Amino acid sequence: MIARGTMLGPDQPVILHMLDIPPAVESLNGVKMELIDAAFPLLKGAVATTDVVEACKGVNIAIMVGGFPRKEGMERKDVMSKNVSIYKSQASALEEYAAKDVKVLVVANPANTNALILKEFAPSIPEKNITCLTRLDHNRALGQISERLDVPVSKVKNVIIWGNHSSTQYPDVSHAVVETEHGEQPVAKLVADDAWLHGEFISVVQQRGAAIIKARKLSSALSAASSACDHIRDWVLGTPKGTWVSMGVYSDGSYDVPPGLIYSYPVTCENGEWSIVQGLSVDEFSRGKLVATADELVEEKAMAYSCFSS
Ligand code: LMR
Repeated sequence: MIARGTMLGPDQPVILHMLDIPPAVESLNGVKMELIDAAFPLLKGAVATTDVVEACKGVNIAIMVGGFPRKEGMERKDVMSKNVSIYKSQASALEEYAAKDVKVLVVANPANTNALILKEFAPSIPEKNITCLTRLDHNRALGQISERLDVPVSKVKNVIIWGNHSSTQYPDVSHAVVETEHGEQPVAKLVADDAWLHGEFISVVQQRGAAIIKARKLSSALSAASSACDHIRDWVLGTPKGTWVSMGVYSDGSYDVPPGLIYSYPVTCENGEWSIVQGLSVDEFSRGKLVATADELVEEKAMAYSCFSS
């Protein structure tokens, strides 16, 4: 997708740096062979490496898809401690070798907290440049509304994912609209079923990652890759007028979320910078959900920080 221009547009040449761990080097080299064989006009180079320094050298955009998955019998703390060590070393390499204005998107779970660890160990990268992926959840919410109302997904906009990329995230349609021939109509009015919007809709989006793993026996791949491209494209090239998207970004206390978390907010992007959409009303139902997912992130943060010394 990146080599075809889906992420940065049809006129932007790219050089891909791909990092994997030594046991995967053979298949990584196979990917490089396929990239060459595809003869993508935009692809000006492909570096396949197991050396984190070579991978990070001079990069302008870093998409962090590597993480340690939770295995049977492992406690969350064990996974966190493995990820702290992975993100610590990758953060140091990015800090030292990436372009000074590198934009970072963390995809690997726990994405929000991995991004926070990365920020901690790459202090010279501006905090505005470190984000995590919740566009996947955002797109899932758009997809559910489109299916429910039987309208093209391109007509649905301004859903919000608040908080953590986990089952406590809050997919919120309070401000979402559908473009119709009579102008923009609120999703809540068109769905006209609060029980569904406050119940099944939320849990389907929250649990979608798990449902995909159950169905495929593997994590989401196509939708995750596509939404990572959407995230970077909108960040770099700007969000369309009148639309916002969801991004996990460093919280500044907006919407009474504790500062110092990587929390998913509605954002607009312009000139390569995101800004949190301010002033949206938050009703009592939503407030409870915003707080619950923030509480989980505070707990994850404490767990991650407790691994720093161990
Ligand atoms: C997803 O949302 O599809 C993934 O984050 C799920 C996972 O745990 O890999």
